[in-house]
Amino acid sequence: MSEIPSRVVAVATVKGGSGKTTIAMCIAAHWLYSGLSTAVIDTDPQRSARRWAFAGSELEIMRIDVCDAHDGAAVMARVEELERAGFERIVIDTPGFRSPALFGALDRADLALVPVRPSPVDFEVAADTVDLLGAVQLDRIGDRPLHVRMVLSQVSPRTVIARHMRQELKSAGYPLMDAELSIRVAYAEAPFSGSVPGLIDPKGVAAREVDALVAEIDKVWA
Ligand SMILES: Nc1ncnc2c1ncn2[C@@H]1O[C@H](COP(=O)(O)OP(=O)(O)OP(=O)(O)O)[C@@H](O)[C@H]1O
Ligand SMILES: [Mg+2]
Repeated sequence: MSEIPSRVVAVATVKGGSGKTTIAMCIAAHWLYSGLSTAVIDTDPQRSARRWAFAGSELEIMRIDVCDAHDGAAVMARVEELERAGFERIVIDTPGFRSPALFGALDRADLALVPVRPSPVDFEVAADTVDLLGAVQLDRIGDRPLHVRMVLSQVSPRTVIARHMRQELKSAGYPLMDAELSIRVAYAEAPFSGSVPGLIDPKGVAAREVDALVAEIDKVWA
């Protein structure tokens, strides 16, 4: 049995297309290739995480389980099963809508990572998601805290909007990661090759962004 405590990340926001699956797969692959036993639970009916992993050979070795988006209890049970099996990192990709799977994932997560693109609509939905997480927190069973962090996703380099969003979110008191993911072809192409930027070009900008995100996540629950 592993000495490393298992940690569960739910990548969650009710805004579609915000970068959940991209973040989920990039951080899971990072942990897998750094030697941690890592599993992904795909709760999105589109099965994007599963498709991504099976599009090539590099992520085939990662355990990818699927759960019904309408069955929150199944997600909770699956997390417990993976923890008992000794998985050190469990990443849950959630659908881009309010679903029982989202609530099941949040009930068992140590960290809810909420991707937010620099746009007014994403800002509002991400803020609503974080407020919703505050309510979930109150009903949780068990004594592990649910940390909540927003992460800027698909940021266009050299534009002021992301900086502006960062200031707005911070001044409104929302917990925001320092790490952010810029908009890059490397992320958009990765699902087609069944790989991730960190394996395709480990020294590239996208790979370094993911490294920084994972390092910051590991500090959240340190
Ligand atoms: N940082 C990025 N740079 C470039 N393209 C990105 C980036 N992040 C995501 N994308 C692309 O944007 C689209 C949506 O991303 P993704 O599938 O990760 O979002 P999602 O939140 O999981 O969407 P859904 O709600 O549909 O599940 C995909 O085509 C993806 O390849
Ligand atoms: Mg997705």
